[in-house]
Amino acid sequence: MNSEEKNQRKIRSFVLRKGRLTKGQQRAMELHFPRLGLEFKKELYDFKAIFEREAPVVLEIGFGMGKSFAEQARDQRDHDFIGIEVHNPGVGACLVLAEEYELENIRVINHDAVEVIEHCIPDHSLDRIQIFFPDPWHKKRHHKRRIVQTEFCQKLHKKLKPGGVLHLATDWENYAEHMLEVLQPMPEFKNLSETDDYVPRPESRPLTKFEVRGQNLGHGVWDLMFSAK
Ligand SMILES: C[S@@+](CC[C@H](N)C(=O)[O-])C[C@H]1O[C@@H](n2cnc3c(N)ncnc32)[C@H](O)[C@@H]1O
Repeated sequence: MNSEEKNQRKIRSFVLRKGRLTKGQQRAMELHFPRLGLEFKKELYDFKAIFEREAPVVLEIGFGMGKSFAEQARDQRDHDFIGIEVHNPGVGACLVLAEEYELENIRVINHDAVEVIEHCIPDHSLDRIQIFFPDPWHKKRHHKRRIVQTEFCQKLHKKLKPGGVLHLATDWENYAEHMLEVLQPMPEFKNLSETDDYVPRPESRPLTKFEVRGQNLGHGVWDLMFSAK
C-alpha cells in the first residue's frame, strides 16, 4: 500500500457506534453466527465451497438492521447473499430474521466493507452488488466520507462478473446526483436507466416501512443500476 492509499484508508464511511446487542440479538449471534457468519481474514472466500452450491451471488454493503437484506434472501432462495455491516447489533438483528425466515442462503460479515472488498472477494465472482441508503454525509466537508466514490466503484467493478449489476439507492437527492456524477463517466459501467439517469425501484429491492413513510411525506427515493462492461 502506498502512502496515498494509506491516507485514503483513514477516511472511513462510518463512525462505529457503541451499540449493545439485545438479548435476542446476542442469542442469535451465538446460535447462528458460527454457521451463517464469515470472519474477516486477509484471504479470498470461496463462495461455491461456502454455500455448497453454484448460484448467483449478491453482495450487500451496509445492510443496517438487515430487514430488506433478509427479505430478499427469503424471496430469492435460488440466490446466495453476502451481507457486510460494521455495526454489530445490526448483524445480530439480521440473524434474528435469518432464524425467523429459516435462511441458509446468507452469510454475514461484521467488518468494514472496504477491507472485505479489498482482501476477501474474488475478482469477477459477483452477480450483483447493492448499497441501499448509504450514510449520506450531508455536510459538504464530509462528502469525502461517502462510500460511493470513483476509486471504490472501480474496485467494485473488478468484483462483478461481466454483465453483473451495481444497484444503489438513496433518499437524499444530493447523494443521488453525486452517485450519478461518479458512475456516469466511468467507462467500466453502462447505465441501465432508459432515461440515462435513474431507474424505477426494481422488485428485487423490497420497500421498507421507512420508505413508505417517506413517500407519503412526498420524499423521493432514487435507484441507480449500472451493469459491468
Ligand atoms: C443509513 S444506514 C442504511 C442501512 C440499510 N441499508 C437500510 O436501508 O436500512 C447505512 C449503513 O451502512 C453501514 N456502513 C457504512 N459504511 C460501511 C462500511 N464501510 N462497511 C460496512 N458497513 C458500513 C452503517 O453501519 C449503516 O448501518
